[in-house]
Amino acid sequence: MSAPPQDTRLGASIAEVLFSAEAIASKVSQMGAALAAHYEGKRPLVVGILNGCFPFIADLVRAMDIELEVDFMSVSSYGAGTKSTGVVRFIKDLEEPIEGRHVLLVEDIIDTGLTLRYLTEALYTRKPASIEVCALLDKQQARTQNIEVQWRGFVCPDAFVVGYGLDYAGRYRNLPYVGVLDPSVYTKG
Ligand code: IMP
Repeated sequence: MSAPPQDTRLGASIAEVLFSAEAIASKVSQMGAALAAHYEGKRPLVVGILNGCFPFIADLVRAMDIELEVDFMSVSSYGAGTKSTGVVRFIKDLEEPIEGRHVLLVEDIIDTGLTLRYLTEALYTRKPASIEVCALLDKQQARTQNIEVQWRGFVCPDAFVVGYGLDYAGRYRNLPYVGVLDPSVYTKG
């Protein structure tokens, strides 16, 4: 029998597991199958938004049994605060032009939606055939922007979550599940 995640070294910092590794695996395989049916014959460009997307996109594309290509972008919010400002700087841009391509943006989590709104507006100027958004987690309550999320895994409560790619100060991305961080971690630094 395996120990519950809370009893592992990293898991000791987690107050509550919201989405288990099993629940995520099952959801991602359903999403992959639905996306494969939707994009069959369109050879989509699946674009991961770094850094948080890495486990999700790796699992998602392996659940899509169609021809596709994968690329990555990395963006950073301008401003010193912890809240997203919506003005993002491109740290890593796409390798290829996207004109005429079907683009699927893959995000770990959508919070206010500011980052995604800025990103999609910037990418639309490159004349893709379509842009759709796929997010594992959607904090709908925190949304301030009217953006369309065509593919979502789970609706996430408006709490700070970590794991399966999501970090706190660069840590916890390697947890195999998504959980709420114990408040004592913030005070310990
Ligand atoms: P938005 O621009 O407010 O939608 O912010 C989206 C980005 O904020 C995500 O891609 C994450 O990098 C980060 N983020 C938002 N909520 C969380 C969270 O609960 N944990 C970790 N990162 C988060």
